[in-house]
Amino acid sequence: MTIQAPEGTRDLLPDEASYWDAFYSIAKDVFSKYGYIPIYTPQIEQTELFVRGIGEATDVVSKEMFTAISGENLKRLVEGGSIKAKSRLSLRPEGTAGVVRAVVQHDLVPQGAPPAKLMYAGPMFRAERPQRGRQRQFNQIGIECLGADDPTIDAEAIIMLMSFYERIGIERDSMRLLVNSMGCENCRPAYRDLVHAYLAERESELCDTCKTRMEMNPLRAFDCKNEACAAIMESAPKITDHLCEDCKEHYGQMFGLLKRAGLDFVEDPSLVRGLDYYTRTVFEVQAISSQSAQNAIGGGGRYDKLTEEIGGRATPGFGFALGYERCVLALQDAGFQFAKAKKCDVFVACASPDVRMDAFDLVQQLRAIGRIAEMDHQSRSLKSQFKLADKLDSRLVAIIGPDELAQGLIKIRNMDSHEERSVPINEALAAIDGEL
Ligand code: HAM
Repeated sequence: MTIQAPEGTRDLLPDEASYWDAFYSIAKDVFSKYGYIPIYTPQIEQTELFVRGIGEATDVVSKEMFTAISGENLKRLVEGGSIKAKSRLSLRPEGTAGVVRAVVQHDLVPQGAPPAKLMYAGPMFRAERPQRGRQRQFNQIGIECLGADDPTIDAEAIIMLMSFYERIGIERDSMRLLVNSMGCENCRPAYRDLVHAYLAERESELCDTCKTRMEMNPLRAFDCKNEACAAIMESAPKITDHLCEDCKEHYGQMFGLLKRAGLDFVEDPSLVRGLDYYTRTVFEVQAISSQSAQNAIGGGGRYDKLTEEIGGRATPGFGFALGYERCVLALQDAGFQFAKAKKCDVFVACASPDVRMDAFDLVQQLRAIGRIAEMDHQSRSLKSQFKLADKLDSRLVAIIGPDELAQGLIKIRNMDSHEERSVPINEALAAIDGEL
């Protein structure tokens, strides 16, 4: 039996791979205008980083992390031994914890420095049950801004993300932007206690997962898909009624800025997100046209306590990540046709095997002037070289024949108009370049 890609992973075949590249180029173009520059952190980090950063009680950390054990350590465990904490490694389930770790480790935001505005892209890993739009390895593009708690940071990042979606072709009115505030260390504990008390009164009606959530992380009950729990949570106390004055002010300013920018959004006090590091602003963007249950194409928020959780000095932060695969599904569901990757500008065909060296030279010269050039590498007949040029979608075919070559000429055929002309070989490069 042939070996298949692991469940919940996908190959980005060449046409789609060029979309991933295009999305990242667009993201760099849009985000760089706001001062974001790339950072690349490892795909594997100490497990402890995610436990402390994302939160031990979250589904992401408690159930979905892929933990990696070296062969040597596996042997140690099998033999009943233990392994050092720093040797416990996990594949990153998201990008924020690693970027924040790098900011702290390399002191990228020294006292008094302007905020560090960082962007990243790459694969993330979560051992979730695979379904349409939910994979075990998926690609994210994200940003993190560390060093400023002003609501202008939150608002400009959300505006920037919405312009990215539009640039890739997702229309503004086919997206829903949900925003909420999660409060801070001053107001959230009391709110959490309120939700706990509310759930405790209705414990017998809750699903088993929510019974556990009630003790571990009562706010997660807002995310329960169970109908009875969802009905109970509709009447649960709303965080926005329990924010402290500072959080209220921050939230008000943030959505005032979104309104000034003409963004439509929905205030959703039940938006709690699945990661524990959030404080104040949280948001999510959903694709309305999506045919998947997994319609969140991106989300993020503020995390003013995360640097301290992982042992750094207090540094406020804000960020988001968008899911590449879910954006592609949203576009496909809206009927968007993906263009094929461009394979060839000009195919250099040989009318006889004697001219292969000349064809080889011309192909190299064409590549040197920036053209995608190809020739036959499988001793095909002239007829099948034309078929190949057609398959590669080549705009032009340059035909080198021994007779023409003896006269210092080369033929150029336009595959769209089928017109053919002979040009002097020393003018071939300029003639081909001019016709493309
Ligand atoms: P998240 O909401 O967990 O946030 O993920 C962001 C996006 O990644 C989701 O909206 C979705 O599009 C995509 N995504 C998540 N899980 C999967 C999956 N299993 N399969 C396919 N796509 C998926 C974060 O990851 C935070 N780090 C965002 C953030 C950055 N917050 C602050 N800074």
